[in-house]
Order: sequence, then C-alpha cells, then structure tokens
Amino acid sequence: MEWTEFYRERDYDRIAYLAGDDMPDLLGRFFSRTRTPDTMLSVGCGPAVTEFAVAERHPETAVHGVDVSEDLIGDNRELAADAGLGNLTFAVDSLPDLDAGGEYDLVYCVATLFFVEDVDRALESLWSRVAAGGFLVVSYPSTGTRRGAMAMDEQSRAFFSLVVGEENLRTREAVESVLGTAVEDFWDAVDAPEEPYREFAPTVYARRE
Ligand SMILES: C[S@@+](CC[C@H](N)C(=O)[O-])C[C@H]1O[C@@H](n2cnc3c(N)ncnc32)[C@H](O)[C@@H]1O
Repeated sequence: MEWTEFYRERDYDRIAYLAGDDMPDLLGRFFSRTRTPDTMLSVGCGPAVTEFAVAERHPETAVHGVDVSEDLIGDNRELAADAGLGNLTFAVDSLPDLDAGGEYDLVYCVATLFFVEDVDRALESLWSRVAAGGFLVVSYPSTGTRRGAMAMDEQSRAFFSLVVGEENLRTREAVESVLGTAVEDFWDAVDAPEEPYREFAPTVYARRE
C-alpha cells in the first residue's frame, strides 16, 4: 500500500511515528540546547503530533508541515483550525523535489526518507531550505532500518520496499558527503534512550553556517 492510499482510508492513528509520545519532548530538548526556531518546515509530517505540540508550546514559532497525502493534509488543516493554531499551516508537497520555497530556521524530516528513492536529491532539497544559522534534522535509511523492516509483519514491511530492496540505504558519511558538512547524532544531542529508535532510524542534525 502507498501512503496516499493508507491515509485515504482515514483509518490511521494520530501518532508520532518516530519515538511516539517522547518526540515532542525530545525535540523540545533539542530547542533548549540549540535554539527555538522562529520558522519550522516539517517534511513528511504525517499526523503532525510533534508539529502540533511545537505550535502549541511556541506560539511565536511558525510551523509549516508538508506531506505527500492530500487527505492527511486536509485532516491536519481541519484540526489546526479547530485548535485555533494560527501558527500551524499545512500543504501537499513531496520529496525529492519540494515545491515549498523559502528558508526555515529548522527543517525537520524524520522517518520519511525511508520511503524516498532518490535520497541524495531529497537531502539537497531539504538542506537548501535551511536558513543561515538554522538546522536540518533528518533521519536516513540505513542497514539498521532494513533490519527493523525485515522484522515487521508483511503489511508494514510493504511500505519499506525501497529499504528492504537495499535501493536507498545510506551511511552517515554518505549523508555528510551530500550535505557537504559534518553532522551530529540527534539522539545523543537530546539524551534519547539507547533504543529502540537509534538503530532503526539514525537521525542526524547539521547547522548551516
Ligand atoms: C512514517 S511516517 C512519519 C511521519 C512523521 N514524520 C512522524 O515521525 O510521525 C512517513 C510520512 O512520510 C510521508 N511521505 C512518504 N513519501 C513521501 C515523499 N516522497 N514526500 C513527502 N512525504 C512523504 C508519508 O505520507 C508519511 O506521512
């Protein structure tokens, strides 16, 4: 099943796929150790649990979430309006070539490159939208992601066909080479627990000079 089809059935849970309920606080810790962004772009935002939390906790931060699914984006917009969150907007957009222009203090793309074939072009798109002094936080598909996917049930594994087929796996060094800069481990930076996310979803950050 494709993601657009998955959300079209409207039978999805409003969860943060990566790190679940911990993610808003982990990202909050990242803000306190770096900076709270004035502007945030979340790519592959999904049900946007973390993005809603950021918008609620930081009314001065403009949060923009994009995802490939029109149905999901419609649901997110409705919920943001119901919650009266004028600083939270959504649009349909897809990697590797984003329509979204502009530059953001934080470009956040977690648990999404797993589903993108041209990871390098996607990384370039994401990095080009980071403002000077801003940060990119990104998870990339790795051999650890593949090990995790292989242990999933058949239905979940089907989403990970690129990873399972080893068509889009990257190393941290390969990510650094595309970005042209060194990256740091996001999980270390926020004192995340040792597992379960680290191996399955290596996530790094880089600051644009
Ligand atoms: C596993 S979910 C992660 C959602 C969210 N980032 C989180 O951590 O909860 C992956 C999301 O990526 C979206 N997605 C898949 N392919 C995409 C693409 N090419 N461009 C943008 N979003 C995509 C899916 O629709 C889905 O919402």
